[in-house]
Parts: sequence; structure tokens; C-alpha cells
Amino acid sequence: MGRAVVIAVVNHKGGCGKTTTVTNLGGALAAGSSQMGILPNKVLIVDLDPRGNVATTFGVEKRSLGPTMNNLFEAVIDGSRIDPAPYILAPHELTNYMRGAWKRQNPNRPRGPPKSHCVDRLSLLPADLDLSGIEIELAMRIGREHRLRIALESAMDDYDLIVIDTPASLGLLTINALTAADWLLVPIQAEFYALESMGQLLDTLNRVQTAVNPKLRLLGITMTMVQGGSNLGRTVAEAAKRHFGGRILETQIPRSIAVAEAPLEGAPVALSKSPIERHPGSLAYWNLAREVSSRLEIIRTQRSG
Ligand SMILES: Nc1ncnc2c1ncn2[C@@H]1O[C@H](COP(=O)(O)OP(=O)(O)OP(=O)(O)O)[C@@H](O)[C@H]1O
Ligand SMILES: [Mg+2]
Repeated sequence: MGRAVVIAVVNHKGGCGKTTTVTNLGGALAAGSSQMGILPNKVLIVDLDPRGNVATTFGVEKRSLGPTMNNLFEAVIDGSRIDPAPYILAPHELTNYMRGAWKRQNPNRPRGPPKSHCVDRLSLLPADLDLSGIEIELAMRIGREHRLRIALESAMDDYDLIVIDTPASLGLLTINALTAADWLLVPIQAEFYALESMGQLLDTLNRVQTAVNPKLRLLGITMTMVQGGSNLGRTVAEAAKRHFGGRILETQIPRSIAVAEAPLEGAPVALSKSPIERHPGSLAYWNLAREVSSRLEIIRTQRSG
């Protein structure tokens, strides 16, 4: 295993599908699928949103959490390097939470969740509300953009892939994600105002590239919550293609109630709904995982060549 490739999922527009994309993509790339031609990866999902929606998606009971992202930031705030392992939920811990959530939702089914529900290569660095104070603390430090990169440094050889969820703002937490990342993935919701915020986001990408992280690249823009057959969805998709051309990923994520409901059972839809091809939301996220995975293969080949 080489050093991890780091993907930050960012859009300061709220509710556009960031967390859903992080959990589905992370889950699918950890699980792998011979049917979809995706090899399994060791994946770490990092949550930088104080609301901690990633943990909720996997059925984690926040009350029972040990140290979280906030504590890790505090430990590296003076710039020292430490091992992040004590702050990370290992695959067997995450699996216990996922199984617990499934059982609470399905009390009369004694056999437990389907095998696809839990993945033994998926870890989580969770966040909780305490993280909301860290931006103020970071603001006073020199080198404040680099704290996440320093925090993850010792974990880089333990994973193939690190996927970061970010809050709906371009504040210091998001800037830390962009400084730690190799790739930026932007979900945009298929709605009227979606493109307005893109200019500001691409400006931020340019500024981070110039000032702190020249290796950051735009992996792509993915359309989410696309309403089948709606004029609005088509209009936004066409406008986005005119604007961003090849940077729009081929896979579109359809609006589907199964995508929104899956976390009730403690897993993103890509893990909880199989066979994949019978569930449009799950299939779309697997297709996105395949698109991302083939781009990652190219990077790995370039690195080893
Ligand atoms: N493809 C989809 N179909 C239906 N509902 C979806 C889909 N994707 C996301 N949702 C729902 O839309 C809401 C917003 O999605 P999500 O939380 O992933 O967005 P976000 O960008 O992370 O939001 P925030 O900016 O608040 O962190 C959630 O309730 C989620 O379940
Ligand atoms: Mg979110």
C-alpha cells in the first residue's frame, strides 16, 4: 500500500449532497465490487462538519464516542505531529455501530444485516459539535491552514484513500480540508441557484493552489438529486456542461427516497441496497465510485512509473 490519495468533498452551498456523496463513495470504494470492476480499498472517512452527519449515517451513537476530530485538532494545534489512530473508529467498531442501527430498525429479523451492509476496510474519524469552536482557535495560529494535513500525516501509509466531508462554508475547516487534499470533488444539486456559488468555490480552489497546496486538483463536479425527466434538472445539467465542460463527471445521482432513507439502517445506500442494478440511487453511487476509481488508478500508475 502506498501513501493515501486524499479527496475533499466541498461545496459551501448547504444540502447539496456532500455527506451523502462522502459516505456512499467511501463505502463503495472500501467494499469494492467485481461486478462493477472496482478493487477494494482501505478507506478512512474524515468528518470536518461539527454536525457530525457522517457518524449518524453509520449509526454511531454520538454519546458513546471517545475522542473526536476536535480533540485531534487540539492535539496538533501547536504544530506537533501525532498518531491519529486513537481518534479513529476502526472497521470493527464501525461495523458494530452499523449492525446495531440495522437491528434497531429491524427488530423482528433475527439474522442481522446483509453481508454487504458492513465493510471491514472502512474507518471513520468522527466529528461532533465541539468542533465548532476550533475555527476561532485556529484563526489565531500561524500555519492554521495546515493543521489537518499535519494531523493525518502519520495515517497516510495506513490507507489507500482518505475522503473528507466538509461543512457548508468556505471557512478554516474547509480550507484545512483543501490544504490536506490531492483532489477536490464538488457535488452540485440540480437546481436553479446551483451554479451561482461555483465561481466563489473555484476562486477558493485557485487561491489554495497558489498559496498553500499546489498539488490540489479538481477531480470533478457531480450532479446530485437529479429529478428524472424534469426540465429544471436538464437545464441545470446543460448549463453546467457549457460552463465546466469535461470537469462535469458522467455519473448523475438521481433523486431517490432510498438514498435519503438508507442511513436509518446505519449504512449509505450503496452498501445497504443490493443487488446494485435494481436500485437507481445505489447504482448511481457505484458508477460514481467506478469513475473515481479509474481516475485513482491513473494516479497510482503515474506515481509508480
Ligand atoms: N440523491 C438523493 N435523493 C434524495 N435525497 C437525497 C439525495 N442526496 C441527498 N439527499 C438528502 O438531501 C439532504 C441533504 O444531503 P446531504 O446531507 O448529503 O447534503 P450536504 O451537502 O452534506 O448538506 P450540509 O451542507 O447541510 O452538510 C439529506 O437529507 C439527504 O438525505
Ligand atoms: Mg453534510
